[in-house]
Amino acid sequence: MYNWDDPINDALSKPDIVPEKKVSSELNKNFTDSASADIQDFPASEDRGVGSTGMEDIEQGAARIQVDDKAIINCRADLNQLVPFKYEWAWQKYLDGSANHWMPEEIPMHDDIKCWNDPSALRPEEREMVERNLGFFSTADSLVANNLVLAVYKHITNPECRQYLLRQAFEEAIHTHAYQYCVQSLGLDEARIFNMYRELPAVATKAEWALPFTQSLGDPTFQTGTHKDNQRLLRDLIAFYVVFEGIFFYVGFTQILSLGRRNLLTGVSQQFQYILRDESMHMNFGMDVINQIKNENPDLWTESFQQDMIDLIKTGVELEIQYGRDTMPKPMLGMDANQFEEYIKFIANRRFQRIGLPHQYPGATNPFEWMSEMMDLNKEKNFFETRVTEYKTGGQLKF
Ligand SMILES: [Fe+2]
Ligand SMILES: [Fe+2]
Repeated sequence: MYNWDDPINDALSKPDIVPEKKVSSELNKNFTDSASADIQDFPASEDRGVGSTGMEDIEQGAARIQVDDKAIINCRADLNQLVPFKYEWAWQKYLDGSANHWMPEEIPMHDDIKCWNDPSALRPEEREMVERNLGFFSTADSLVANNLVLAVYKHITNPECRQYLLRQAFEEAIHTHAYQYCVQSLGLDEARIFNMYRELPAVATKAEWALPFTQSLGDPTFQTGTHKDNQRLLRDLIAFYVVFEGIFFYVGFTQILSLGRRNLLTGVSQQFQYILRDESMHMNFGMDVINQIKNENPDLWTESFQQDMIDLIKTGVELEIQYGRDTMPKPMLGMDANQFEEYIKFIANRRFQRIGLPHQYPGATNPFEWMSEMMDLNKEKNFFETRVTEYKTGGQLKF
C-alpha cells in the first residue's frame, strides 16, 4: 500500500523488481483518498461553469471574439480563433520554442561511441549513472507528453496557450527521440533501459508519483467549473509543471551535463543541454499558466490550498533528493549527493517564489552555478543562431 505521507520509505521497501501489477491504480486510489481535504470537502456546485473545448457546433453569425472573452480555464468563447491575443507571453513562448527547433540526429555522437567503448574512459559507477538517467528520462517524457495531450490540453481553454501546448508536445516527442538516439548510439540494451521505470525503484518512484495526477485530469468524467474541480486542475498543473518538469529533471540534467564539462560523452551531454533549455521554457510556461489561473480565480488560492501545494512540492523535493542519493551513492565527477540535496532545495525555493509561495529551505545555496548558464535563455538565441537560420531557409522553400 502506497504511503502518501512517506513515499520514500514506501518506495525503498519495494522489491528490486516491481511486480507486474497496477502500481498506478493503487497509487491513484491512495492519492484520491489522501488528496487535500480542502479539495475533497468542497461542495460541488450545480452551476458548473464548464468551458468550451473547441469541438462545439459552429455558431453561424455569432458575435466576434473580444480579448476580454478569453480566459485560461472555463472560457465559453470559441476556442478555434487564435487572435486577438490576450496572453502575449504564451504566444511569445510558442515563437521562441519554434525558433529553437532542433533534432537529435544533428548532434554528432562519434566521440560518445568511442568514449563508451573505451573501458578506461568511464568508471563503472559513472556508466551506471548514465544508464539510470537514460532509464528515467526515456520514459519520463512520454509521461509528460501523455499528460499534455490526454489530460491538460482539454482543460486549458485558451488558443494561445493551446498553441504552446502543441509545440511543447512535439518537443517532448523530440526529447524521447533524443534519449532513444543516445541509447541506440551507445549500443545499450534498449529493453533494460526502457523498462527501468517499472523495474528499478530508484527510477520508478518519481514516475509512480506523477502518474496519478495525469489520471486525475484524464478521467473522462472530470471537468473544471466548480471551485473544487478548478483547484484539482491547479494542483495537477503544479504537480506536473513545478515538480515533474521543474524539480524531477534537475539531478539527472546536472549529472549528465557535468560529464560534458569534463569532455566525456559530449554528444549525450549536448542532447541533454538542448533538452534542458526546452524544459526550462516548459516549466516557465507552466508557472505563467498557474499564476494566470490564480489571478483570474483568486478564490482558489486559499490558505489551506497553499499549504497543500507546499506539502506537495516538498514531497517532490524529497523524492528528487533520494534520486540523487540512489544515482550517486558515492562521490563522482567532483560532486556528491549532499550537494545535490542543497541544489534541489535551492531550485525548489525559486519555484516556490515563482508561484507566490514562501521559501521552504532558508539559506539553501547553489553549488552548481554553472547550471544557470546552461539554461540562460538570453544566450539561447546565439546558441542556436546557425541552426535557426538553416530552419528558416527550409521554411522559405518554394513549391
Ligand atoms: Fe521533455
Ligand atoms: Fe517538458
